[in-house]
Amino acid sequence: MADINRNYDGFASNKCDSQWKVNKVRALHTMRDHREVERVYDEFAEYFDELVTSLEYCGPFFTSRTVSRIESKTDAKMLDVACGTGLVGDELHKLGYTQIVGTDLSQSSLDVLARKGSYTKSVHANFGPSTPLDFDDGYFDVAMSCGSFLPMHLNEKCLPEMIRLVRKGGYIIITTRKYIFEGETGDMKLRPGLIKLTQEGALTKMAHEENLYEKDGDDHVTGITLVYQVI
Ligand SMILES: C[S@@+](CC[C@H](N)C(=O)[O-])C[C@H]1O[C@@H](n2cnc3c(N)ncnc32)[C@H](O)[C@@H]1O
Repeated sequence: MADINRNYDGFASNKCDSQWKVNKVRALHTMRDHREVERVYDEFAEYFDELVTSLEYCGPFFTSRTVSRIESKTDAKMLDVACGTGLVGDELHKLGYTQIVGTDLSQSSLDVLARKGSYTKSVHANFGPSTPLDFDDGYFDVAMSCGSFLPMHLNEKCLPEMIRLVRKGGYIIITTRKYIFEGETGDMKLRPGLIKLTQEGALTKMAHEENLYEKDGDDHVTGITLVYQVI
């Protein structure tokens, strides 16, 4: 805990107190480009799990349970896009899944993930259409992303690369906040992007479930988990 008193844009704390949390969450919503996204997540990678636990973040739980309902083979090849510190893979690992690859922009987050041992491999990358991952088309049975379709993070332009990486008949699972899916926030138009890919015959929608995503003061933010099959 030696370096936790570092300042980052006004962040200074020795614990996940409420002002620290407010500042972190605010920083996540005001980032201007991918370099800043990478820097902010690198800065608090060591405290990310503590922060989201205090927010009662349930996205990884719901995402992993959805995966287990649609893919029963525990050696199925899984890709976790923008995996961060690996909370989704940790849940999948508890359920017995053994072949999980994670990719993220933040190397410090991947370092935390590696220590926990739930993933077979991690890839440091800015996920998107212009930077394809070094895996063959259709390599994965399931690609998922939890909590990462956000302004300046992943957006609908990342969907074709997710589709490329999943075999025909495999699945794409996305968990995000409902208000982000329903609104067109910043650079992100997830819902129209999914509708377009469905109309073009690349995807079929299988499920759309609402859940309790995380706490916001005394309230809960509603989350959604979407399941699409690759055609
Ligand atoms: C809110 S965290 C969610 C992490 C994890 N999926 C979870 O549920 O705990 C968002 C993650 O998206 C990553 N990220 C943002 N933009 C990205 C991009 N273009 N490519 C890869 N990772 C990205 C960040 O580094 C961060 O780890």
